[in-house]
Amino acid sequence: MSGPGIFRPVDPFSPKMVMSEISHLEALEVLDSRGNPTVQVTAILESGARGVARVPSGASTGINEAAELRDGDEARFQGKGVRKAVANVNGQILDALKGFDGSDQVGLDRKLVELDGTDNKGRLGANAILGVSMAVAHSAAAEKGVPLYRSLCERDRYVLPVPMLNILNGGQHADNNVDIQEFMVLPLGLDTFGDALRAATETFHTLKGILKQKGYGTATGDEGGFAPSLKSNEEPMELLVEAIESAGYRPGDDIAIAMDAATSEFFESGEYVFSQSDGSRKSAADMGAMWHEWADRYPLVSLEDGFSEIDHDGWKAEGGSLGEKIQLVGDDLFVTNPQIFQQGIDDGLANSILIKLNQIGTVTETLDCIEMARNNNYTFIISHRSGETEDTTIADLAVACGGGQIKTGSTCRSDRIAKYNRLLEIEAELGAKAHYAGREAFDRWLK
Ligand code: PGA
Ligand code: ZN
Repeated sequence: MSGPGIFRPVDPFSPKMVMSEISHLEALEVLDSRGNPTVQVTAILESGARGVARVPSGASTGINEAAELRDGDEARFQGKGVRKAVANVNGQILDALKGFDGSDQVGLDRKLVELDGTDNKGRLGANAILGVSMAVAHSAAAEKGVPLYRSLCERDRYVLPVPMLNILNGGQHADNNVDIQEFMVLPLGLDTFGDALRAATETFHTLKGILKQKGYGTATGDEGGFAPSLKSNEEPMELLVEAIESAGYRPGDDIAIAMDAATSEFFESGEYVFSQSDGSRKSAADMGAMWHEWADRYPLVSLEDGFSEIDHDGWKAEGGSLGEKIQLVGDDLFVTNPQIFQQGIDDGLANSILIKLNQIGTVTETLDCIEMARNNNYTFIISHRSGETEDTTIADLAVACGGGQIKTGSTCRSDRIAKYNRLLEIEAELGAKAHYAGREAFDRWLK
């Protein structure tokens, strides 16, 4: 499904640098952090400027996400190979884009959408299309001789995002008895991104000690958070508060908590079924009551997918007063799709959107969603996927867009650390032009 904004006319008054044209695209099948194949694309411009991008992949995917093209050949990678997507880049897409202006991201993305011709990018593959879209964005930055965040948006001052560190994993990302997918620490009371990342990392290390002391496992899940089996779905909240305090920080003031409940994964026949833990079943009203209680009891500032992507009645009935207290983020609910997001805005669902490039499949449509969020008083969070690579595009995107929030896992596993290290690098490079978002990113809920 293509967003309306992708066909917006180019502003004739915007300064446009003379850029060189795309001379070559080279795709390669590489591996992601789960050892599954993914697409890497190198874009080369006539000038020799080049950009490289690698595409992420989700596990708890929304039903309306753009379609990854997988080979289905069981003899290779259990059917998960991406040779077809790679061939599409090296063949049809290169043929169509050779000679295209590398700086015209909007035109390029429109052309990719048209070339694919389907609603979900399933013909060429959203993995093929996004690889090209991001790689060309990187090559345009290289051509200009500026970092990607500056190429995407020139500003006098840049906002460094609050990192949302998923330090306790459950749901689809762990083989434990916790149904809720992510428990995150948000170091929003610190002064710089570097200090914030340090505080959250110290909390992560402290949590490890606490888990060990209690006799719990300290093996990690897909996003680098610990993944122990616990007594209840609520115990992670207690453990996080204990870890924040033991690390020497004030829960709520220095470090707050966020959750991604990823409830679409356990919504069955109109009920929320807690099958990984005690097998209990809850209605949307029960869920709403539970979230209210937790928001009152813990320093919780943000809840993602607290209701299922198909339970719009639940979102409407239970979201209103909850949204006064905490940020309510739509991930599977909106799938970074401008049309679906617009419908959700019209229906009053949530008050924040999770932004994942590969849910929609082009840089331009992703930026369209961000613009829609801004125009409709929704906050937005730039996010990784549970299957990642060393690609750091989202770190630059978060700084370029200035929304003040990024979700990219725990400070464990190089696929997550790569994004945090890139943000440290950007903060150092910007010097006095860097401003850490901190509490401002959540000021609507932190009265
Ligand atoms: P996913 O998880 O990448 O497996 O979808 C991340 C999330 O749900 O936010
Ligand atoms: Zn999510």
